[in-house]
Amino acid sequence: MSREDVTILAIESSCDETAAAVVVNGRDVRSNIISSQIALHTLYGGVVPELASRKHMEKINQVITEALETADVTLDDIDAIGVTYGPGLVGALLVGVAEAKAISWAKSLPLIGVHHIEGHISANYIAHKDLEPPFACLVVSGGHTHLVVVKDYGSYEIIGKTRDDAAGEAFDKVARAIGLGYPGGPKIDRAAREGNDQAIHFPRAKVGGSVYDFSFSGLKSAVLNYLNGCRMKGEEISVPDVAASFQKAVVDVLTEHAMHAVDEYGFKTFALAGGVASNTALRASMEKACAARGVRLCCPPPVLCTDNAAMIGAAAYYDYQRGIRSDLTLNAVPGLKLGER
Ligand code: KG4
Ligand code: ZN
Repeated sequence: MSREDVTILAIESSCDETAAAVVVNGRDVRSNIISSQIALHTLYGGVVPELASRKHMEKINQVITEALETADVTLDDIDAIGVTYGPGLVGALLVGVAEAKAISWAKSLPLIGVHHIEGHISANYIAHKDLEPPFACLVVSGGHTHLVVVKDYGSYEIIGKTRDDAAGEAFDKVARAIGLGYPGGPKIDRAAREGNDQAIHFPRAKVGGSVYDFSFSGLKSAVLNYLNGCRMKGEEISVPDVAASFQKAVVDVLTEHAMHAVDEYGFKTFALAGGVASNTALRASMEKACAARGVRLCCPPPVLCTDNAAMIGAAAYYDYQRGIRSDLTLNAVPGLKLGER
């Protein structure tokens, strides 16, 4: 590492992964350690916030030590600490924030509070070394469905968002209804490969107001109604067909709105981000639609789509370069909006 290099230790604990990473100059990931709580929450069919916080407390030091060791650095080599401070589960966020503040104070290191969604978007800077704003990004996670114009580093305009459920939330709820359990997205993705996506026609919701806004709660209800109807009529339910048809409805709407924005705004580069961006059908559909328009599609590998700390390190680097610093009053902000500080 040269003297000009900026080495960031990043921490992420907003939901159900305890993660730490060492990232140099925003794009070079030296370590990316993730301790997943899936096995714990599976027992309850979803994330239990109280258990998530306790597990974060149990794992956080271990994950940070491993991140430093894997990167072959010590805290003396670190230039700044980046940490997710919102949005997310308040008790979960607090664990990372308290840890980051403690390290920042003990080692006199600059502290940078990072927006979780900004982290998801920034995963693209790691995956595509030449990617620079401006570009458009579809952020699809368990808590968010945002169509965002990335005007510059740290400068965002949300042009569309969900009015109700997030895309990942719809995947999780439908997976539970068809007995696939938690976490729903990857299970539906897998089951759908064996199914016929034309088997059942589920609605593609249109919402009034912004043409780029989404709504997924009607689709979720349509799936539940379909399942109840089958049960009442004593008809067998094909889990792969329901999974594939539901997934197709989500993917069609996401792709259609994204391409509408591409056509209207004339973006030459489009990026995907968030857990649902690891969905194989969404990636294939977006690739096809972008290729047809000569638009470059950027998408991080699945490990950088779902929650991780490397993406927080990437976002923190660009904040660091712009002189953004948090102080020891930094607190968890569960409902933090993109672009807010
Ligand atoms: O970004 P993320 O890890 O956490 C949040 O910030 O919410 O996203 C988690 C969401 C969950 O709803 C999960 O079911 C969904 O991403 N997900 C997927 C896939 N992998 C994760 N959804 C569809 N297909 C996948 N392969
Ligand atoms: Zn996330």
